[in-house]
Amino acid sequence: AHSQQLSSSMAGVLSHRTSQDLAFDRQKVFRVIPQNDEQVEFLNFLASIMEVDFWKPDSVTLIRPKMQVDFRVEAEKSFDVEDLLKESGMEYQVLIDNLQAAMDAQFDSKVRATSHSYEKYNNWDTIAAWTADIAAQNPDLVSRSVIGETYEGRSIYLLKVGKNNQNKKAIFIDCGFHAREWISPAFCQWFVKEAVETYGKDTVMTTLLDKLDFYVLPVINIDGYVYTWTNDRMWRKTRSKNAGSVCYGTDPNRNFDAGWCTLGASKSPCASTYCGSAPESEKETKALADFIREHLSTIKAYLTIHSYSQLLLFPYSYTYDLPPNYQELNSIASAASKKLASLYNTKYTYGPGAETIYPAAGGSDDWAYNQGIKYSFTFELRDTGRVGSPTYAPFMLPTFTSGEFTGTSNRMILRNVHTGMKDA
Ligand code: ARG
Ligand code: ZN
Repeated sequence: AHSQQLSSSMAGVLSHRTSQDLAFDRQKVFRVIPQNDEQVEFLNFLASIMEVDFWKPDSVTLIRPKMQVDFRVEAEKSFDVEDLLKESGMEYQVLIDNLQAAMDAQFDSKVRATSHSYEKYNNWDTIAAWTADIAAQNPDLVSRSVIGETYEGRSIYLLKVGKNNQNKKAIFIDCGFHAREWISPAFCQWFVKEAVETYGKDTVMTTLLDKLDFYVLPVINIDGYVYTWTNDRMWRKTRSKNAGSVCYGTDPNRNFDAGWCTLGASKSPCASTYCGSAPESEKETKALADFIREHLSTIKAYLTIHSYSQLLLFPYSYTYDLPPNYQELNSIASAASKKLASLYNTKYTYGPGAETIYPAAGGSDDWAYNQGIKYSFTFELRDTGRVGSPTYAPFMLPTFTSGEFTGTSNRMILRNVHTGMKDA
């Protein structure tokens, strides 16, 4: 029995494996908190002499003293980095000792679904088929449309979720901006499932769907998402070709027309926070922005789902100025994070983006806000990263038994909507 079990799980592993096989072997993820400018400078130096993938913040240029910084380095360099860190006197922790171990768990059929599952990660084809199925199965609540095409020619699907009624206000929710943040598309799918399963049973959900429409965009950066399944699990950007560069992709959340590329974004096509050649240069961000522009009279709230860090952010991120309805946004965020902590004790930090994490221009939240959508929030879902854990790494949350990971934010959003929509 034992050997049979072993061989069937091996078969599962092998059938899912691709060129990513040992790509992350012995790579380490370090966590540091630079205490002063000199230590920040040291991290810049490190990034200049080798390839460093910043997980948090998103780029070396965003690092400031006292900020928690998580970064990934190549296997061959990991011991040098550790030596350099020791020499620098900066305190460090090894967040992940061998990234491949965490990655291996990701290839398990317990994590990657073979047919659609709300408790596993689904590949793009499965999600695409699901958007058609969920609409076909719930014709009175869900309808599907196509808002555009990706760079590589995939249809960008949008679900409209709500009881068919006239003149409804709407809440727009998107997932999958950044390709490696897999929990995000999983959340969007979970949200739609909750909506259709609890409509007519749960009074809050029933009222919400009677009175409002939810536009749910399950994956916006589809090409990037596909690439994380097939080539590089840690890919972040889109997959468009950059003229005059060997590097691919633009950071979609630096590509909107909100202080575009002025702060916390890079003009270098090779950077993970590349702002693109112009605002909305990416077909994906253009399609999203076009849809929102065309529906400004009904969309009253904009929610965009990222990971990780457990944050609830609102405008602005492109400036330290506070938005006109700062007080209101702050009290909504405060109520939401309190409600959220009551569920799984997950603590979410909240505030305006620029001061809460870092200034970063060109984000969809600031752009939507400036279009007149007064309730605009970015969620950074779980995890916060557990030091030394090989199997419970950020970006790579394990199976979400009983919707623990995806369900969490669902309640938070409901709470948000509830509080925030009152006078919208
Ligand atoms: N981690 C997200 C990002 O850097 C945070 C987005 C916050 N909003 C913003 N406009 N920068 O894309
Ligand atoms: Zn993100």
